Amino acid sequence: MSTVVLVGAQWGDEGKGKITDYLAEQADLVVRYQGGNNAGHTVIVGETTLQLHLIPSGILYEDKLCVIGNGVVVDPEVFFEELENLKGMGISGDNLRVSDIAHLIMPYHKILDSFEEEKRGELKLGTTRRGVGPAYVDKYARRGIRVGDLFEPKLFREKLKRALEYHNFILTGIYGAEPLKQAEIEEKYLEYGRRLKKYVEDTSLLIYEAVKSGKKVLFEGAQGTLLDIDHGTYPYVTCSQPISGGAATGSGIGPNFIEKIVGVTKAYTTRVGEGPFPTELKDEIGDFIRQNGREFGTTTGRPRRCGWLDGVVLKYAARINGLTSIAVTKLDVLSSLPVVKICTGYKLDGRYIEHFPHSLEELSRCEPVYEELPGWKEDISSARKMEDLPPNAQRYVKRIEEITGLRISLIAVGPAREQTISLENVF
Ligand code: GDP
Ligand code: IMO
Ligand code: MG
Repeated sequence: MSTVVLVGAQWGDEGKGKITDYLAEQADLVVRYQGGNNAGHTVIVGETTLQLHLIPSGILYEDKLCVIGNGVVVDPEVFFEELENLKGMGISGDNLRVSDIAHLIMPYHKILDSFEEEKRGELKLGTTRRGVGPAYVDKYARRGIRVGDLFEPKLFREKLKRALEYHNFILTGIYGAEPLKQAEIEEKYLEYGRRLKKYVEDTSLLIYEAVKSGKKVLFEGAQGTLLDIDHGTYPYVTCSQPISGGAATGSGIGPNFIEKIVGVTKAYTTRVGEGPFPTELKDEIGDFIRQNGREFGTTTGRPRRCGWLDGVVLKYAARINGLTSIAVTKLDVLSSLPVVKICTGYKLDGRYIEHFPHSLEELSRCEPVYEELPGWKEDISSARKMEDLPPNAQRYVKRIEEITGLRISLIAVGPAREQTISLENVF
């Protein structure tokens, strides 16, 4: 058995796309298991830059199957937009597979995502407004429409009618908006269904058989541990389970099929959207990291909030996900800072704690306790081995290992595929 789950160890945007693309070379299948096109995963190979939101980041390898699992919410419009874009780059996308029981993002979900955010006013969550949250709400309200429903027009029409009765009531009654028309959505979605058909199958069975026959499967997480609906900074979270456990439910495999779990973390911390962030830097160092790391959202273009690496968060991610190793990305971004800091604990109401508190009120009162390490001036973007890194950069990553108690399997020193230091075989 050879399976690896890759999860974000922070608040998303850790560089999962780049690490997925790097590891996909060794994999036979790359599987997305949750989230939707709220994700923005960047893959850079040579002159090619891909911004993927829904399609797995293994897509550049045409001999690997790229699977959109049952736990993902699928916006068919985005699926075909991304596919067309890939085709324009000479990538056929014929290796894509989509679960028949994945739920669909419908037009009313996208409209509602924006209306709900507006209504929250000051208390807005900062969602990506892609309809992801409302689509999961419908899934759990048992009023969702699944990919497979598109192939049974009578059933689809009936389900849509029931969903629209509900959503038009909300749209007109609460938000004073125009009701949506059944005929327009029906026509559009049934056409999507005809075009989707060739990609759709029971992907749980596909993955099961692949694992059983000794194939290597890479599960590509989206979002991150602290955006998890249960274990994240609720309510400032997404509506799915980005943590490693989500890989089992979101792809239909038993948890005992999961072998290795790699947490991806930046060498510092970022967050888009609202919510507490103990190590946030609202000063010139935060601005330096944002500019140097190009920390602007892949999906929404929003500037990302930046701060020092938070060891408390990493230890929490290690526990919640059962991490077996970590991949540290964007180490190059810290080059030229005279001092680099790692948060090793929080001061909460005069007490020193090393665990991540569940209460947001407590978290927002937490003051980070930092350990200071000397920085490095050298450009490290061409380092390919640990020994190529300046001693202070080596000391920094070693400290991350000591604080988390985990081995670092990969270090990224630039966005390109080859700008990666491999310290151990992940598969
Ligand atoms: P994801 O959502 O976790 O896949 O991460 P994003 O793609 O949203 O954001 C990570 C950004 O950092 C992307 O623009 C990547 O191209 C870039 N990136 C990834 N790894 C590195 C690295 O080691 N160094 C630098 N400078 N950029 C990186
Ligand atoms: P990747 O996969 C960073 C954040 C949004 C918002 C919250 C809820 O690229 O790491 P949603 O639209 O999901 O209902 O928004 O979650 N968010 C992300 N932040 N990276 C992501 O994905 C994110 N996906 C959602 O900014 O705060
Ligand atoms: Mg991203």
